[in-house]
Order: sequence, then C-alpha cells, then structure tokens
Amino acid sequence: MKRTESIDYFWNLLKEDDVLLAPMAGVTDAAFRHICAGSGARVMFTEMVSAKGMVYGNKNTEKLIFLGPREDHTAVQIFGSDEALLSRAVGEYLNGSAFAFIDINMGCPVKKVTSNGEGSALLRDTEKLYRAAKSVVDASDKPVSAKIRLGIDGRINAAENVQALEEAGVGMVTVHGRTAEMYYSGHADYGQIALAVRSARRIPVIANGDVSDYSGYLNIMTDTGAAGAMIGRAAMGNPFIFAEIAAAKRGEAYAPPTNAEKMAAALEHFEFLLEYKGEHTACSEFRRHFCYYTKGMPGGAALRSQVSSYEKAEQFTDLIRSLIDC
Ligand SMILES: Cc1cc2nc3c(=O)[nH]c(=O)nc-3n(C[C@H](O)[C@H](O)[C@H](O)COP(=O)(O)O)c2cc1C
Repeated sequence: MKRTESIDYFWNLLKEDDVLLAPMAGVTDAAFRHICAGSGARVMFTEMVSAKGMVYGNKNTEKLIFLGPREDHTAVQIFGSDEALLSRAVGEYLNGSAFAFIDINMGCPVKKVTSNGEGSALLRDTEKLYRAAKSVVDASDKPVSAKIRLGIDGRINAAENVQALEEAGVGMVTVHGRTAEMYYSGHADYGQIALAVRSARRIPVIANGDVSDYSGYLNIMTDTGAAGAMIGRAAMGNPFIFAEIAAAKRGEAYAPPTNAEKMAAALEHFEFLLEYKGEHTACSEFRRHFCYYTKGMPGGAALRSQVSSYEKAEQFTDLIRSLIDC
C-alpha cells in the first residue's frame, strides 16, 4: 500500500472516532470486543498474536484471530522480531484476511517476549525496530500501525522510534506513556508522549495510559496533542466507557448503566464466549471478567467468591439472569 494512502486511511479512521480499544492479551478477544463494539467502540485491536505462531500453525492462533460480526475496523496485533517470519506471517496469513489493518507490538515488557528480542526489546535498537516494521509494511496489503512504550533500559527514545517507524512506512503509532521497566506502575508520562507526538512528520500518534473516563480522555488529548486516545484497563468490566465518552463529546447527558444493564452486558459477553470457546474455557476465562463487571456492586465480593468454583455454563447464566431480575 502506498505511504500516503496508509496515512490518509488512519487520519480518516480517527476523524470518525478517536477513542480506541487497546490490545490486551487474555482480555480483548472476540467476545470482549463484541461487547465493547455494542457500546460504541469502533477501532479495536486483537490480543497480541505471535508471528512465529502464525507461520508454524500454533493451535491457539485461530481463536486469537477470530473476528465477530461488529468488527469493521479491528486490527490484528502481531509480535515478532525476525524480519523473515514477520513478512511470512503477513504474506501467508494476514493479507486477504478481514482485518482492517495490522498493528505491530513493540511495547510488551514481559520477559518471555523480550528475551526473544520481541515486544519492547525492539525499542532498544531503533535500526532493528525500523527493519522489523519495514518487513511488515513491505509484505502487507493493508495499512500498518505500531504500538510502543516510551523506552527501555532507563532510556527514553520514543520520539526517535516514532520517526523511524514513520520512515519505515508505518501509518500510525500508539505511545503508551511508560517505559518497559515500569510495566503498569506509576503514571503514564503525558509530557513524554507529547514529545513523541511532535516528532511525527505526517502520521497520527495515539496517546495511551491511565484514561478511565471522559475527563481523563480530555486530559490526555490536551496534554499530549495526540490524534486519539487508546483505552485499555478501564474498559474491563466497563465497556460502557466508549458510550460515556461519545455522549460527552456530543454534549449529551450520559446515564451510567444500572446493575441490571451491567449484568445484561455480562450475559451477552458470556454467551458469546461460550459459543466461541466452549464451556470449559468460557467458564475459566469469564471468572475474571465477572470480577470486573461486579466491581462496586452491592454483594460483589460474595458473588466473586461464589463464581470462583463455577465450571458449568448454566451456573453462570442462572446467576447472571437472577442478578438482571433483582
Ligand atoms: C492484561 C493486559 C494485557 C495487555 N496485553 C497487551 C497486548 O497484547 N498488546 C499490547 O500492545 N499491549 C498490551 N497491554 C497494554 C495495554 O494495551 C495498554 O498499553 C496499557 O494497559 C495502558 O493503557 P491503560 O492505562 O488504558 O490500561 C496489556 C495490558 C494489560 C493490563
């Protein structure tokens, strides 16, 4: 895809909606994205998927790249560092797929990933980051974005990395305002994101970190000058955040969901998960989501302890239905 086409693609995407659902491993699967889309999320990202896993037919890959019916603007996020593997994953697996674009994970701080030179390890070496990105861009028939952190090894070099990614043909970069060492501790540094935003010549830069409501959205947009904001953890158990921000942007009053409405979303989420991953996996994965959905609800702690032993779909559906009715 031509560089200008890719850049125009992302600016147009953001014109429609500048609030993006972050990629989160173990969270943003097709079931979760379905619920977020139901609340108005438009641009969404899969969990990170290994390029190596795609090429060598890892059995988990298929579930990771399943797309639901409300996903016209979902990106697949891949991770890897080997240029040949990255371009094979794109050429053999992703070109021609229904994903709107491809995002490259260059921010994951987890040892299992960085010890292979993948994720945030790429931030260490801008030349290598450039080559990895270029291998994806050159192989792809879709627009390509990337997601980075501020830096690694105590060095902040997001501005330099944004420029290298733009040079490689990446059309949009998301910057999470923490270094790799910080994992999720402390606060995202919006001042440093702002420097990265200013370093881009033509591509949009998205700011990410610690947005949990409309005022957080306004803060990150104002403080960084970014073209959009990406939301991760705050959407867990609260997919309604997309509707809340959209309503506030339109100047409309927003009524937060009642507990019954939260439980209705939880039920829809669970039923999607059940069909998509089967009873055993759905029950084990949904326990975590249920904890988030019931956060702050009266009797929430007792409910969370009750579901910790649930292994049957009926147990979840009966309980959630009873909570909708009460
Ligand atoms: C459970 C979890 C899984 C994550 N998995 C990914 C991932 O697969 N790819 C990625 O780029 N970032 C991942 N992240 C980072 C988020 O995308 C995001 O950058 C981070 O949570 C900061 O945004 P927030 O403050 O809005 O949550 C993950 C974060 C969490 C909490």
